[in-house]
Amino acid sequence: MISGTPPGHAPAIELRGASKVFRTPSGASHTAVRDLDLTVEQGEFVAVVGPTGCGKSTTLTLVSGLEEPTEGEVLIGGKPVTGIRPEVGFVFQQDAVFPWRTVLSNVMAGPRFRGVPKAEARERAREWLGRVGLAAFADRYPHQLSGGQRKRVALAQTFVGDPEILLMDEPFSALDVQTRALMSDELLELWGGSRPGGRAASVIFVTHDLEEAIALADKVVVMTAGPATVKEVFPVRLPRPRKVEAVRLEAEFVEIYREIWSSLGEEVRITRERGASRVG
Ligand SMILES: Nc1ncnc2c1ncn2[C@@H]1O[C@H](COP(=O)(O)OP(=O)(O)O)[C@@H](O)[C@H]1O
Ligand SMILES: [Mg+2]
Repeated sequence: MISGTPPGHAPAIELRGASKVFRTPSGASHTAVRDLDLTVEQGEFVAVVGPTGCGKSTTLTLVSGLEEPTEGEVLIGGKPVTGIRPEVGFVFQQDAVFPWRTVLSNVMAGPRFRGVPKAEARERAREWLGRVGLAAFADRYPHQLSGGQRKRVALAQTFVGDPEILLMDEPFSALDVQTRALMSDELLELWGGSRPGGRAASVIFVTHDLEEAIALADKVVVMTAGPATVKEVFPVRLPRPRKVEAVRLEAEFVEIYREIWSSLGEEVRITRERGASRVG
């Protein structure tokens, strides 16, 4: 698998001095993201960790084009983001499936929406259902699936669009521990083989789970307590391919975990103390 931006090319994603201020219903303003700089190279898998409520999801909405930054710049492939783009795929914590459609029809929906002819969309959807191990479930409805299977549908829905950029917001956090590890392994496999010519999608994976972040990523970005800005960036040089259950037992993993936790733990503590003072 090739990763890293070739010389002379723009990084896949860049945030430069990005800030986001929300107006609350009472008219007050709330800064969710402040002066955030972040670069994701082409084919790089970046995990973002930070305390709950710090501004991780907001950061993703800026990259996705769902929200505009109040200040600063957000660039994809060197160009400012001006709206939602077809080369960007999302996976959220909540399943984005239509409950009234079959699994196959759910996976076909994106390509159909983008104008792919029906027969071709069906073929591509079947292919991706096969890759996520759901070939036998094409005619089921989402409520007839387990949580892990629904997540696989979400992955098929995303990868069928052949995304260059993949934005994932705590996609596996509602799953039990074993299913979660399985899904992480599957994600790495799909990601590794996702693009023609072997170039993988560029990923921002938001999680509050540091183990998950390290197991998946090329680098882990630690965010501050809100408003979110980048506190530190840690490279993860564990060899690939990785299996998450095995990799987290390695001495190097434990060492990286300790190092990042000493940075992240402080922000978690600050966030907790703020919460406690609000309650008390
Ligand atoms: N649309 C919005 N309007 C007002 N405040 C928002 C909006 N979206 C998020 N926020 C606030 O911004 C902060 C960061 O939220 P979020 O990015 O969802 O955090 P995280 O994903 O890290 O848990 C929170 O205090 C949240 O309440
Ligand atoms: Mg969030």
